[in-house]
Amino acid sequence: MKTSTNRRHLLGGLGALAASAFIPAAQAVVSKKPQAIDIADIVQIRTLGSGQAAMQVTALGFGCMGMSHDRSETPDKAMLKRVVAHAHDLGVNFFDTAQVYGRTRGQNERLVGEAIAPFKNNIQIATKFGFIFDENDKKIEGRFNSRPENIRRVCEESLKNLGVEAIDLFYQHRFDPAVPAEDVAGTVADLIKEGKVKHFGMCEVGPNTIRAAHKECPLTAVQSEYHLMWREPEEKVFPVLQELGIGFVPYSPLNRGFLGGTVNEYTQFDKTNDNRPTLPRFTPQALRANYRIVEALNHFGRTHGMTSSQIALLWMLDKADWIVPIPGTTKISHLEENLRSLDFKVSRTEWAELEKTLAAIPIIGERYPAEQQNQINSN
Ligand SMILES: NC(=O)c1ccc[n+]([C@@H]2O[C@H](COP(=O)([O-])OP(=O)(O)OC[C@H]3O[C@@H](n4cnc5c(N)ncnc54)[C@H](OP(=O)(O)O)[C@@H]3O)[C@@H](O)[C@H]2O)c1
Repeated sequence: MKTSTNRRHLLGGLGALAASAFIPAAQAVVSKKPQAIDIADIVQIRTLGSGQAAMQVTALGFGCMGMSHDRSETPDKAMLKRVVAHAHDLGVNFFDTAQVYGRTRGQNERLVGEAIAPFKNNIQIATKFGFIFDENDKKIEGRFNSRPENIRRVCEESLKNLGVEAIDLFYQHRFDPAVPAEDVAGTVADLIKEGKVKHFGMCEVGPNTIRAAHKECPLTAVQSEYHLMWREPEEKVFPVLQELGIGFVPYSPLNRGFLGGTVNEYTQFDKTNDNRPTLPRFTPQALRANYRIVEALNHFGRTHGMTSSQIALLWMLDKADWIVPIPGTTKISHLEENLRSLDFKVSRTEWAELEKTLAAIPIIGERYPAEQQNQINSN
């Protein structure tokens, strides 16, 4: 961010020099036109967690999953590396992946490892453990393993895949009913002592699990689904996070692209690499009915000059400064659009109006099919 400001000042300085030395007065006036604000100048830093568990990250992180998993888009590796590098150039310092992302174990981590290699020491990288794979390295649905030996094994594999000496934030990806939260936390605490992990996180866990784990190893962040169409964490999870000083990382902040308005009943999903057609809110009927929500966001955005994605992201960023969404994209244009959400101001009254409008629109379909919802720990 500093580099960019300096670059801008340098360019400004050179421009002024050129104007005074060579450019006639009329053109010099033209050069005083307001410049578009550099994205790097609006990317702010937030703190996830507190005390020794605190971690400084950019207000918007980068979700890497969709680069190779479950979002249909499959640009070539060179393009994906450009998107990641561009995110870093714009100041983004927080990248999210998991062992389970990809067609096989570790595939997304290896892609991310290659992409971040030139700047891996200047960023925070988050990854996750807790699933089981078959002999072909494919995920076995609905099976979990957060036993200490597996957490340690995943840690070693992730370090290698990512090409880093320590994992900045290591999350349990899904609660494992066979392993108490204290034992999971204790294992990660040991990995922190050994210097292999820097911070501890958990995904989709409820208040009692958060309290039990946090006693054993202070949590830096809880990561759960959260967006304008799924606000459940507000009820029981947010109060505990606030009380204990733990950060919150909303995943799928655009509801898997839907709130960005580019997914509708005609969207052709790649069924071999996209979980959205399996979700009740992504049937053609649900997409058609729920599109009223996107239209409400577009209507709200008209008077601000904001897109529906920007509204969706700024809405949660404005909820609390310990919230750090991680939208995913394979496109530089979407990356920049999402980061520019940080450049807008919306008043509390306006947000309340938007929430009132949205509350009057029924949401069709559950967020997950029953078997996946059952994997969520709400205790
Ligand atoms: N802990 C968990 O269990 C869990 C579960 C799911 C996800 N995650 C994490 O959360 C991250 C984000 O989640 P997600 O990918 O499910 O959902 P998301 O960020 O809500 O949406 C990503 C989708 O939105 C599209 N998109 C992005 N910006 C857009 C814009 N400005 N306008 C229109 N479309 C836009 C992307 O397509 P384009 O490529 O075309 O931009 C992509 O298909 C993942 O990468 C992963 O790291 C964690």
